Amino acid sequence: MTDGFNCGILGTGSFVPPNIITNEDLEKMVDTSDEWIVSRTGIKERRVVDKNVATSDIAAIAAQRAIKDAGIDAKDLDLIIVATVTPDMSFPSTACLLQDRLGAVNAAAFDLEAACSGFLYGIITAKQFIITGTYKNILVIGAECLSKIINWKDRNTCVLFGDGAGAAVLGRVEEGYGILSNCLGADGAGGQFLSLKAGGSRLPASVETVEQGLHYVSMKGNEVFKFAVKIMASAAEEAVNKAGLTADDIDYLVPHQANIRIIDAARKRLKLDENKVYVNLDRYGNMSSASIPVALDEAVHSGKIKKGHNIVMVGFGGGLTWGSCLMKWGK
Ligand code: UT7
Repeated sequence: MTDGFNCGILGTGSFVPPNIITNEDLEKMVDTSDEWIVSRTGIKERRVVDKNVATSDIAAIAAQRAIKDAGIDAKDLDLIIVATVTPDMSFPSTACLLQDRLGAVNAAAFDLEAACSGFLYGIITAKQFIITGTYKNILVIGAECLSKIINWKDRNTCVLFGDGAGAAVLGRVEEGYGILSNCLGADGAGGQFLSLKAGGSRLPASVETVEQGLHYVSMKGNEVFKFAVKIMASAAEEAVNKAGLTADDIDYLVPHQANIRIIDAARKRLKLDENKVYVNLDRYGNMSSASIPVALDEAVHSGKIKKGHNIVMVGFGGGLTWGSCLMKWGK
């Protein structure tokens, strides 16, 4: 905190595409069952974009909603950060495409990649510019078209993911509100457990990479699961401790929406009631960097998060990466 103000969220917005793929639809595509998917993950359905829709298209809608909610104009933005593993293309960045699309002519723009932890990496990066007084209004977006990088014939992954976009405008809030503490972390040694191998400089896209399916997400689900169960609770606890609070002080938890068993394990370790945890993975599956901001937007606009609440956002993802953030909600 500095000079009588802190960094907080001024507005949120989200968008999920209308097309729904249910577990019953997946039963017709791969050897799976609604029973398996629901009991192992909690997911019942997910959204997918049309063929001609890209990440910047859904990000733009979420962004416009967040800008409106914050009561500012796109021209008031100083910086746009887009967290995504599904950029429209390698470059220009999706943030630059959006800067043009939104008419945010005064904003710098860059993409940030921390997989499912991307939104948290984004807001904690944005916080640094705000509290130092460098920038006033920063748009942070988590947006993904994961349906474009999933092998729809691989039952290990295709049942888990969905498309969507969530956005937040960060700016100055009254002292005592906003981001009170945060933590970020990475364990690159675990990067092999969740990756997309081809299409970069190590393994440029070729007929062979496509034939071998290396342009799709590959995952060792149970390795990621073990990591996630540990890190969700410990990252949340770290943010709570750094703020000088205890888990009893948490009014609302907004976790990354990957698997209900992972969320429940964290909730139990933090000794939180179920009604203090926002869950929408049954409707959307895992939207990677979009999961937390979509959940946040829904929780705020359905009145679950109120002014003065201590909320903890916590997530983990490919990299491996993790992050958490404790905010006193100031709107
Ligand atoms: O945001 C980060 C992204 N990733 C994650 O969050 C993933 C974290 N991991 C998980 O959520 C869980 O590990 C999964 C849901 C992916 C898998 O659940 P699990 O309880 O860890 O199952 P498993 O990987 O140990 O697999 C159990 C069995 C296997 O069969 P065998 O080898 O025991 O015969 C799989 O082949 O379940 C099989 N299986 C399926 N069966 C029906 C895997 N996917 C499916 C499926 N339908 N969709």
